[in-house]
Amino acid sequence: MDGIADVSPDLWRQYASAEPGTIGGNYLRTFWQPVAMSSEVENGRTRPIHVMGERHTLYRGETGTPHIVGFRCAHRATQLSTGWVRGDDLQCMYHGWTYDGDGACIYRPGEKQTGRFERADIGGYPAREHLGLIYGYFGEGEPPPFPPFEGYRNIGVIENHVLDFPANWFQTMENHFDEVHIAFVHSFGGSHNDLGRSGFQLPEMKIYETGYGMIRETRVEGGDWRKTLYLLPNIMRILIPTFAELNDAGGWRDTYIIIVPTDDENHRVYFTQNVHIAEDEMDVWREVHDRFNARVRAAPPIAELAHKILAGEAHITDHMDHPHLLLLEDAVTQGGQGQFTDRSRELLGRTDVGIVEMRKVFLREMQAHADGRPLTAWNYRGEEPALGFDPGSG
Ligand code: FES
Ligand SMILES: [Fe+2]
Repeated sequence: MDGIADVSPDLWRQYASAEPGTIGGNYLRTFWQPVAMSSEVENGRTRPIHVMGERHTLYRGETGTPHIVGFRCAHRATQLSTGWVRGDDLQCMYHGWTYDGDGACIYRPGEKQTGRFERADIGGYPAREHLGLIYGYFGEGEPPPFPPFEGYRNIGVIENHVLDFPANWFQTMENHFDEVHIAFVHSFGGSHNDLGRSGFQLPEMKIYETGYGMIRETRVEGGDWRKTLYLLPNIMRILIPTFAELNDAGGWRDTYIIIVPTDDENHRVYFTQNVHIAEDEMDVWREVHDRFNARVRAAPPIAELAHKILAGEAHITDHMDHPHLLLLEDAVTQGGQGQFTDRSRELLGRTDVGIVEMRKVFLREMQAHADGRPLTAWNYRGEEPALGFDPGSG
């Protein structure tokens, strides 16, 4: 589909939604989606998850295997994440009904028939792990190959971060095709000053489709091309400055960013970063990390702060020392569009070329899926992103 200008507000909501049964929601369910960082669920523990408008229970068996099953117990509907993990099964806290890793009910204490009871099955979803993230597959039929992307050719230390964002997932995808925002949104904290674009300069931009999705190439006068990869629909590989002081240990990071809808007004952003730390610098790296994580735990989450800023109860300039300032800046502008924005209110200009190009591809793919036509067979073979300049650290 080329005519993105003709898409009605209602149709936009269908595309940008991730709820089950919508065009976007059905499409996103044909891909593996991260549901948690591996470190968020210890062996023998559970965690409620909220993905693409649906709630499920994630738990790790005592052996460490991750499982995703239904959210509520079939007996009297209490939330199963409050239950106990027994081996690789999950037992409800309320009256002990027990489910296996596929959500099959295998035990009902006190009932005449205590064993396998199909009517009480709560359903399960395939769960796998890759580079510090647990993924689930929520679509129909066989899941696509796993892992969904190759990883790194030369693996060092893998760092994972996750943040909740107060905006529809597609707004953040659009933002990632919007190189121009950097010069303004991120001028507060100066995180991107190394790009040499403080003070506004419209970068030269090339955005085109490739075998795994899209590429964005940008440069400012006299510079080299900065190259960012989009493993569509919602994975990006990019070289970025990492969070504030973490740059002191390892410099800019080769990063996979994955945008996963929570519901239509919120999403989670997963960062997987590869960093090469020399043996004798590991202590410094650990120390910097511990200090950073302690600061994150003590700071208000960016979604909460963004809501306050948008309500006029706080101002971003009062939070310049926030450990996630870089993302707070993004959360404020994207949440500020309205958590599920109405695109019929927009007035696009020439700086929006990236957004126009990405919308064409998404709409084409989503509409193809909705019409039962085959999707483009994307295949990522490990091409690497390029920075186009020397960030001077690391
Ligand atoms: S509600 Fe789960 S066993 Fe009763
Ligand atoms: Fe940004």
